[in-house]
Amino acid sequence: MIPQSLLLTRAPEAGVEDLQTYRDAGGYDALKTSLASLTPPNIIQILAAAELRGRGGAAFPVSRKWELARAAESDVKYVVANGGEHEPGSRKDRLLISQFPHKVIEGLAIAAFATGAHAGYLYIIEDMADALASAQRAIADARAAGFLGSNILGSGFSFDIEIALAPPTYVAGEETAALEVIEGRKAWPRKKPPYPGQSGLFGKPTTINNVETLAAVPAILRHGPDYYKSLGVRGGAGTFLVTLDERVARPGVYEIPVGTPFREAIERFGAGVKSGRPIKAILPALSSRFLPAAALDTPMTPDAVRAAGSGLGCAGISFIEEGESIVPRVLQISQFFMKEQCGQCSACRMETNTLAMVMKNVAAGNGGEYAAQIDKIINFAKGKGYCSLIEMAAAPVQSALALFPEDFAAAAAGR
Ligand SMILES: Cc1cc2nc3c(=O)[nH]c(=O)nc-3n(C[C@H](O)[C@H](O)[C@H](O)COP(=O)(O)O)c2cc1C
Repeated sequence: MIPQSLLLTRAPEAGVEDLQTYRDAGGYDALKTSLASLTPPNIIQILAAAELRGRGGAAFPVSRKWELARAAESDVKYVVANGGEHEPGSRKDRLLISQFPHKVIEGLAIAAFATGAHAGYLYIIEDMADALASAQRAIADARAAGFLGSNILGSGFSFDIEIALAPPTYVAGEETAALEVIEGRKAWPRKKPPYPGQSGLFGKPTTINNVETLAAVPAILRHGPDYYKSLGVRGGAGTFLVTLDERVARPGVYEIPVGTPFREAIERFGAGVKSGRPIKAILPALSSRFLPAAALDTPMTPDAVRAAGSGLGCAGISFIEEGESIVPRVLQISQFFMKEQCGQCSACRMETNTLAMVMKNVAAGNGGEYAAQIDKIINFAKGKGYCSLIEMAAAPVQSALALFPEDFAAAAAGR
């Protein structure tokens, strides 16, 4: 029987999926098949047919990223699994590395074969002690079993993985900041272009994918792209992980079909809103735009959520409820971005600090000319800076003000 769950194949209580358990369920078969009978272009075609898109936030098609890296001419190339997850409200990558490390390792090994890399990094936040222990053990076991190292399974292909630890900051998850950390510098994003696929780690072509993206790859190769695609609903392809916060009756990380509407994810998987109150606005990820309750039936595909005016990000879903002002939540988010901006780009420093200051004034009942100030600072900062944190910090504030100006007016007037 082919499973509906491709990522979370065991309940959390069942513990870490170790090498034997993973192999018993067909683990490393996709790597074996890839090395024995597929070419890199074959693998990339399969991922294109599966319509696999990145799960790190931008939903970039995996086949396009891998093809660029494959085609890049260089003796040395790298692959990186990005587990720099530090967004409050998202716990999916931590869960995958802790509990399903072999899926990530196999996905990274296939990425290496498909793009022509012989060295890879599993990049994780240094405070993820459980994930680190699990990853170390799994890499050692995979190496001992011949799935990593030189001449893997007698194929002539060699590849190995090192773990790289990131500081516990939000920006450390940005792909070029991750490359800086792996090279031994602080977590500051690089100016782009060049993109990592052209000039990444140590100046060499580098493919960096989110941990969840890579974990999906072995199952796609094993079951075929048509089957994978068929798991999606309403125009979506495959499955993905969402994190539902403590406002639902059953918070946690769930694997759901891509294309599931927000409402269904909250009701069916999260067992509904804990308080029983109607939802007033939904935030698909901390760095995205609030959507009104009318958007609750939007299918969670990257394109449909974009068309509705927001972005899926890493799908750490939260919401506010009827009868609740949006202002305290926006204040909290703006303070998060002020604290997490890395300090490198002056426009970002200025924007995040000003937004947090304006929101503090609004929440304290000293609003002043807040709407004009918010617009002005966001318009000034737009498109500046080395990474998109500037846009991320602006999105929740600007959308909340557009949707619920009355909440801002009431708070600013001390009501
Ligand atoms: C401020 C910032 C933080 C980010 N944090 C993460 C992260 O923790 N994990 C991640 O996979 N991508 C993160 N990203 C996105 C990465 O830069 C990159 O797009 C992603 O790792 C690509 O993987 P994918 O194509 O598989 O989605 C972040 C981006 C920005 C701007």
